[in-house]
Amino acid sequence: MKIARPDVVIMRAMLEAGDGFVSGTDLARELGMSRVAVWQHMEKLRDHGFAFEAVRSRGYRLTAKPSELNALLIEARLPASSACTIITLDTVDSTNDEAMRHVSQGAKTPLVVISREQTKGRGRLGRDWLSEPNGNLYITFALRPNVPPDRLATITPWIGVNLCDLFASYYRITPQIKWPNDLLINGRKAGGILTEARIDADRIRDLVIGCGLNLARPARGWTGELAGRAIALGEVTPTPIDINHFAAAVIGRVLSAAQTFQADEHGKKLAQLWERYDALHHREVTLLHGRTEITGHGAGIDSGGALLLKRGNGQHQRFHAGEVTIAKR
Ligand code: BTN
Repeated sequence: MKIARPDVVIMRAMLEAGDGFVSGTDLARELGMSRVAVWQHMEKLRDHGFAFEAVRSRGYRLTAKPSELNALLIEARLPASSACTIITLDTVDSTNDEAMRHVSQGAKTPLVVISREQTKGRGRLGRDWLSEPNGNLYITFALRPNVPPDRLATITPWIGVNLCDLFASYYRITPQIKWPNDLLINGRKAGGILTEARIDADRIRDLVIGCGLNLARPARGWTGELAGRAIALGEVTPTPIDINHFAAAVIGRVLSAAQTFQADEHGKKLAQLWERYDALHHREVTLLHGRTEITGHGAGIDSGGALLLKRGNGQHQRFHAGEVTIAKR
């Protein structure tokens, strides 16, 4: 188990206490340091946008914290047993590229890279991913799963349904997943997943799973091709989203899903969750496959993550790639 840094231990206790006080003596005992040393840590935190009330004989109470992406607030929300490394950046070309650079140089996994903005955010099929520093989450998970390559096609749907399930449990919304990687709210795109891998003949060597999650509308609104097609979670939730709390929840859920994937125990749950969140279920869709347009009705996915379409002749056909459009009702 990773030994937690003192500032993480202090912040975890403060967050758990909510509006209550945390005793300086208890913190000092837990950290094996003097109360003066605890106080020195608190003073350092004040320099980083935190505010505390200190009351003799009661201890410290958190009265303000940064609302922007903050590594400490994320780490303090993760379970003490969490063994991942988190890198939080102000700016980067792409969190996927940064994560791949780290794993190529032998970094320990699981590794999580988060950035406030991306200058070259990438989407599926070579598209750009709008990555302004407006409070959205741009996050990549790097793993060395050591599993056979044929399991790769299930990872994006598996992470997608886990994110839908997380959103549904946190907010009163019914998110959906559009095969293979689009997260939808009210039929509009709220997020996407870009999975990239380095594969050897018999196993996946390095795997990066990048998630772009819209939490806030862009400053200028949704323009161009995003107009009427994109949405942010913050537009449908009554209370503002705390990005650090949200990021920690996403990290916890994705890392747990990654473990299930590695153990090859995700198949049954993937089928169940896919049925619950499938945006294409019984819908008339068109699949653009190369230059060919195929129409049919969504019939779920198979155990390998391929899309199943019920064609006009009643037969099911599976597709491993393509871009799906839902027919307007
Ligand atoms: C898509 O729907 O096309 C996938 C979008 C994935 C975007 C995320 S943002 C974090 C990570 N870094 C990238 O450059 N892309 C992914």
